[in-house]
Amino acid sequence: MSETRVRVPDLREKKRRGERIAVLTAYDATMARLLDGAGVDVLLVGDSVGVVVLGYEHTLPVTLDDMLHHTRAVARGASRALVVADMPFMSYQVSVEDAVRNAGRLVQAGAAAVKVEGGPAIAGAVRRMTEVGIPVMGHLGLQPQSVHQLGGYRRQAVQREDIEALVEDALALERAGVFAIVLEAVGHDAARQVTAAVGVPTIGIGAGPDCDGQVLVSHDMLGLFDGHIPSFVKQYARLADEITRAARAYTDDVRAGRFPEVAQPAETKKS
Ligand code: KIV
Repeated sequence: MSETRVRVPDLREKKRRGERIAVLTAYDATMARLLDGAGVDVLLVGDSVGVVVLGYEHTLPVTLDDMLHHTRAVARGASRALVVADMPFMSYQVSVEDAVRNAGRLVQAGAAAVKVEGGPAIAGAVRRMTEVGIPVMGHLGLQPQSVHQLGGYRRQAVQREDIEALVEDALALERAGVFAIVLEAVGHDAARQVTAAVGVPTIGIGAGPDCDGQVLVSHDMLGLFDGHIPSFVKQYARLADEITRAARAYTDDVRAGRFPEVAQPAETKKS
């Protein structure tokens, strides 16, 4: 695809024009190339890599080195999409200095922006990162890095007072300088009210149809992850089944002596 690169200001412009923003996660160069070629606007190198790629139970064990490694790979594969890298647990919460230094490393690894979870408690870090030229995406609602405090992955902001608090948090992030806000697993009313209240685009995940864009974990929507898939996910493919079928056919062929075939193929492809 030879379209021009998606830049941070383009997302606000899309909100202004009423154009929906399509975001998917990516963790490696091959997948980044495929999703980018399909026209996805933003590739999020999510710390969900810990669960769907690295085999952890949650995102907390993911390190900055893990995120640097996967961000470099995605940046090599993406040519049009905006690459946003998640800041992992404890890489931005301890001090503003840490946040700026670690965000800078993710940008040096190829991200155009970083994403952080939280509201007013991290507004100081968001402000400083944006002041030094690092675009920041916020993340409110269900914040997986706070899973222990939340007591599980529960829907957020359903009661009226919680919705009001969510709108206040979103406004605080906007004042601090975020260019977009992910709203994860919040009530649809809450997502609608936040989206109306802020000038920056909201990107929903399990937050209903009224956000300015949507994000899904690519391994969930492609049917590649064989663990728990949240009920709001629409699966556009069943790649796990396809991979299992192909691997079983290959194994059967090897055991039965059907592969490799006796006649040499005309062309030798690279392994
Ligand atoms: O890590 C991730 O994939 C995310 C999305 C679920 C928004 O933060």
